[in-house]
Amino acid sequence: MGFVGKSVPHESAVGHATGEALFIDDVPPLHGEVCVDFVGSPIAHGRIRNVDFSAIWSVPGIVAAYTYRDVPGHNDYGPIVGDDRVLADETVRYAGEPVVLLVAESRAALAAAKRLVKIDVEPLAPILSIDAAIAAESFFGPPMVIACGDVDAALAEAEHVLEGCLSIGGQEHFYFEPQSAIACPEEGGGMLVHSSTQHTSEVQTVVAEVCGLPFHRVTCICRRMGGGFGGKETQAAQTAAMAAVAARLTGRPARAVLSRDDDMAITGKRHPFKSWYKASFTREGRLTALVVNHYSDGGSSTDLSPAVLERAMLHTDNAYFLPNARITGQLCRTNFPSNTAFRGFGGPQGVAVIENLIEEIAHTVGRDAAAIRRLNCYGDVGRNTTPYGQIVQNNTLPALIDRLLETSAYDRRRAEMAASKATDKSFLRGLALTMVKFGISFTRQTLNQANALVNIYLDGTVLVATGATEMGQGVNTRIRQLVADELGIDFAAVFIGPTNTDKNNNTSATAASCSTDLNGAAALDACNRLKHRLAEFAAREFAATGSGIPCALEDVAFSAGFVYDRRDAARRIAWRELVRRAYVERVNLGERGFYATPGVHFDRETGRGQPFLYYTNGAAVAEVRIDRLTGELRVERVDLLMDIGVPINPGIDRGQIVGGFVQGMGWVTTEELKYDAEGRLLSHSPTTYKIPNVSDLPGVFHVNYLENSDNHVSLKRSKAVGEPPLLLGLCVWAAVKNALSYAAGSSVPRLNLPATNEEILLRLTDLTKAARTQPVEMT
Ligand code: MTE
Ligand code: HPA
Ligand code: MOS
Repeated sequence: MGFVGKSVPHESAVGHATGEALFIDDVPPLHGEVCVDFVGSPIAHGRIRNVDFSAIWSVPGIVAAYTYRDVPGHNDYGPIVGDDRVLADETVRYAGEPVVLLVAESRAALAAAKRLVKIDVEPLAPILSIDAAIAAESFFGPPMVIACGDVDAALAEAEHVLEGCLSIGGQEHFYFEPQSAIACPEEGGGMLVHSSTQHTSEVQTVVAEVCGLPFHRVTCICRRMGGGFGGKETQAAQTAAMAAVAARLTGRPARAVLSRDDDMAITGKRHPFKSWYKASFTREGRLTALVVNHYSDGGSSTDLSPAVLERAMLHTDNAYFLPNARITGQLCRTNFPSNTAFRGFGGPQGVAVIENLIEEIAHTVGRDAAAIRRLNCYGDVGRNTTPYGQIVQNNTLPALIDRLLETSAYDRRRAEMAASKATDKSFLRGLALTMVKFGISFTRQTLNQANALVNIYLDGTVLVATGATEMGQGVNTRIRQLVADELGIDFAAVFIGPTNTDKNNNTSATAASCSTDLNGAAALDACNRLKHRLAEFAAREFAATGSGIPCALEDVAFSAGFVYDRRDAARRIAWRELVRRAYVERVNLGERGFYATPGVHFDRETGRGQPFLYYTNGAAVAEVRIDRLTGELRVERVDLLMDIGVPINPGIDRGQIVGGFVQGMGWVTTEELKYDAEGRLLSHSPTTYKIPNVSDLPGVFHVNYLENSDNHVSLKRSKAVGEPPLLLGLCVWAAVKNALSYAAGSSVPRLNLPATNEEILLRLTDLTKAARTQPVEMT
């Protein structure tokens, strides 16, 4: 018995495969339902002169058209600052920004009407790059700083100093299900919203404010998402708000489902970064100081960007001890859709900078980069404090990388590569190991809380409700396993319904990888209260029957569908029977649980604190092959080792690791966002935006777990797994950089991220040109 630790299949696995699992747009049309779409700004920045939709009324089936003036409540909303808007007001701030909301009886009518709307915009100068934002000082607020030690002194006495700038691209979420919502007006003016959202409470509150309703009149339900990846942490709200405005104004159920192209064009992405760095190090390659100035492209509104930048800064050390560091972050305001959460939440950008630096240090001192990583890895007392003051405890990384270097035959393959590099005229090969130490907890203390409702029904089955939303990551399956074991009942006897703000109020987004940690702990808190009452009742029942010997509360055990006396296992009652009898005797069979992560805090002003409950660790080794003539990249082999403690569901967690890694690999290689000179996204469909497909996977791909049962701070010694593996995708990029170093001679090879085939070819050309212009030694 026992389900925790077993690879129970994802509870919707069969439904996903057969199509029985419903997504928003699978819901059959409701009685009287209307469809909603929008017409967006033709340009990236400007003042709206005139909006003319007089021509649409000739289209049969058109019901209504609205602008921001029609929004019944507030048009403004936003998670940190209220600077997002349902519909643009006087100005437009990015190409495609919704200006007119169209409502019709059919999608065909919407499509016809869309073409007839004329939006006349007086152009204003747009800011379309981080460089342009820096030049114009177009920022959201002052820079943030995290610092430790004495950077200037360390730089002054350094053996080596290296400087550079890394340009890091954004990333489209490419969830399969686009942003979607159905809003249904309810009796007496309420509103029920079905939304594909990671954050039911946020959709509830945004819809309430947009409709001018008190929060208790709005319910948001999410059964599941066809992927979120951070893109539905805040940005599900706009689509839900559009549906709600239409429903409120027409009095009819309204459905808004963005087309793939519109979704790609108007929703925010991973933040592009431009990061300047200056580092000092010894001739062995030991880091003595690091200065990094991150510039993040926030897009046109605040959204979650300050928190994303903060996490980037908190991950700029990655796994490496920095005795002296000064990390600053400046958030740029540009005329792109507002960039947002994306798996890793800024962590990947921070880590990219230091992993890039390590490759450059290795090249400079002429040592293997894995040795430099090992040398700089957090260690024992004296080398275990992060720049923000948190102590790195139970650090499994040194052991983890030693094992990975061995199992991946790193040294042997490195030697083979060195031997082949002179002879192979067609291909360049590269090998790299990168690590991840990902901080688990929301960096905003308040968000580290969860509540859960657990109802026991008279047939012994149990319904659990939490604020966690299911996006494919398996949170519901894991919570079912935890609850089943806690109550000693079958997995099938526990069910988790749709996430619903009626059942769970004031929830945090399902994000930061910690939704099982938080919501699972809240569910277990509720289970423990229920068990306490049931144990009292069972002890009385045991004493009243047979021998009459009393049974101590702590001797009552719940296991395998029975409640029994640990000292006399013959005294037992079937769970279902106990529940029935407890009900008859008026024992309360429902509970609400709560959990708040202890001890986490971070002070934004001083840049210090203990923001994370623990770290999830991992490392990966990638081998790549580059065609010298075309720049074409192949990932030949990847060996990946993760420390996720004692996994609650090793099978699902493995899916998270593989999926996260491949998504990270896409970010650093083929996924490139291309805009025209006016700031319109060109790569707005799968034909122009290249995510990894099955043929891009590494030919050899080993994924293993490090055994670690020391993580006592988290649920059942597990560790969060959702985001950390994405950061390991960086090993593919580092391997490309390593390959280029073979063609680089003494100069440090540069490489932007993503390393598309084009980028690789350009950098190779730079290196060949540089080699040609170098003075030839006479003999
Ligand atoms: N896995 C799937 N299949 N789909 C997703 O959208 N989102 C990721 C990750 N894994 C995602 C996913 C992101 S961004 C986060 S923060 C976590 O799942 C959130 O869920 P968790 O807290 O349950 O890990
Ligand atoms: N991670 C993910 N999502 C978040 C965070 C965080 O630290 N803070 C706010 N939303
Ligand atoms: Mo994940 S980026 O924290 O939704």
